[in-house]
Amino acid sequence: MSSHTQPSRVGRRTVLKGAGAVLSLAALGGAWRAESRGVIDRARGPAFDPWADWQAHERGDPAALVSAAILASNAHNAQPWLFRMEDTRINLLEDGTRHLGTLDPFGREMHIGLGGALENLLLAAGANGYEHRLSLSPRTEDPVHVASVTLFPGPSVASSLYAAIPQRHTNRHPFDTSQTLPRSAFTSLERLNDEQAVQIVWFTSKTERDSMHELLAGAAEAINADTEQSYDNGLRWLRQDRNSIEEHRDGLTLDTMGLEAPTVVAAKMLPDPSAEESGRAWIASIHEQANTAGAFGILAVRNDRDRAERLRTGRIWQRMHLWIAANELAAQPMNQLHERPDREDQLGLEPQYGDALDELIHDPGWHALFTFRVGHPTQPAPSSPRRHVSQVITTS
Ligand SMILES: Cc1cc2nc3c(=O)[nH]c(=O)nc-3n(C[C@H](O)[C@H](O)[C@H](O)COP(=O)(O)O)c2cc1C
Repeated sequence: MSSHTQPSRVGRRTVLKGAGAVLSLAALGGAWRAESRGVIDRARGPAFDPWADWQAHERGDPAALVSAAILASNAHNAQPWLFRMEDTRINLLEDGTRHLGTLDPFGREMHIGLGGALENLLLAAGANGYEHRLSLSPRTEDPVHVASVTLFPGPSVASSLYAAIPQRHTNRHPFDTSQTLPRSAFTSLERLNDEQAVQIVWFTSKTERDSMHELLAGAAEAINADTEQSYDNGLRWLRQDRNSIEEHRDGLTLDTMGLEAPTVVAAKMLPDPSAEESGRAWIASIHEQANTAGAFGILAVRNDRDRAERLRTGRIWQRMHLWIAANELAAQPMNQLHERPDREDQLGLEPQYGDALDELIHDPGWHALFTFRVGHPTQPAPSSPRRHVSQVITTS
């Protein structure tokens, strides 16, 4: 029978039955793929439980402090931390296996993320009835030992920032440009910065935001054009399906990318994108994000290579992001403008973005360390995965 011949009655029924079976199989395959890719359930499963279980430990159990610490903002969700527990002391350690490679050659982002974890841990210490003594370790003694927090019984202090810990998520959706940020938001955010060592520089006018947009997009293009940096930025930490999310419990998921819902469904159902496709999609999202920022802020310090100053910056950022969450605003760190200068430095290239950053700060005594945008959300941001507390606690 040629392919053009009509099938006989029996043959046609068989063909139809076959087609039905193929369709059911396709539907089943689709349903299986939908299930395995997490199309239907956003941010569900054990990898997301730490957001719901963060207060499951008995009050006063030092593990309760670590449960809060691991929910901190941290670059690429690499979670570069370990917590070594002693009787009345918690030691915060760098986990060098979670380094971001060419994206963070000098550990800037790693240390800011560790500062964020430290801030959550200290907020939780107060809420769990502890006073504390914080000691930041000099790098010279034990390079991975970042800080120790000694705990003493004290009054219980549960702040609104502490309560906002499970509400804080990075929001990569476009922000609502019909609403402007009230002056009081800037004042409140500045009040959280009790560190002389950290300065907040704001970019609020349309002209300032447009030039930040241009610089961020240019730096993102430069990252994409650098094969190693592009890989470290994109596919290395991308967790595309439920299995890889549950296996790693870290990294960036499609749900958190700030894409429109139908695009997320399509991205989950289609084969994984090439590096080039995902790079292009990333640049498009940077434009949309930068274009809808209510304001940009840069956190600057006197010595951008000093770990203690980076930790302080991470603490201030975490505090600011918690305040933003508690006040129903939205924020997203945007660090291409720092990742590119670090890479220029690493490779000995012309400091194109390094110079651009210095110009933004306008003061040779201060160095830009971290950039974010803030605004009114158009939609809530979903949770990102986290490793279980037991995976980050060590006793040795
Ligand atoms: C130092 C640092 C740099 C970051 N850079 C970016 C960035 O350039 N773009 C972005 O979308 N998110 C950035 N983030 C946000 C993290 O990706 C985010 O905190 C992480 O994926 C965990 O998600 P969560 O904040 O929703 O808990 C950064 C966070 C930190 C602490």
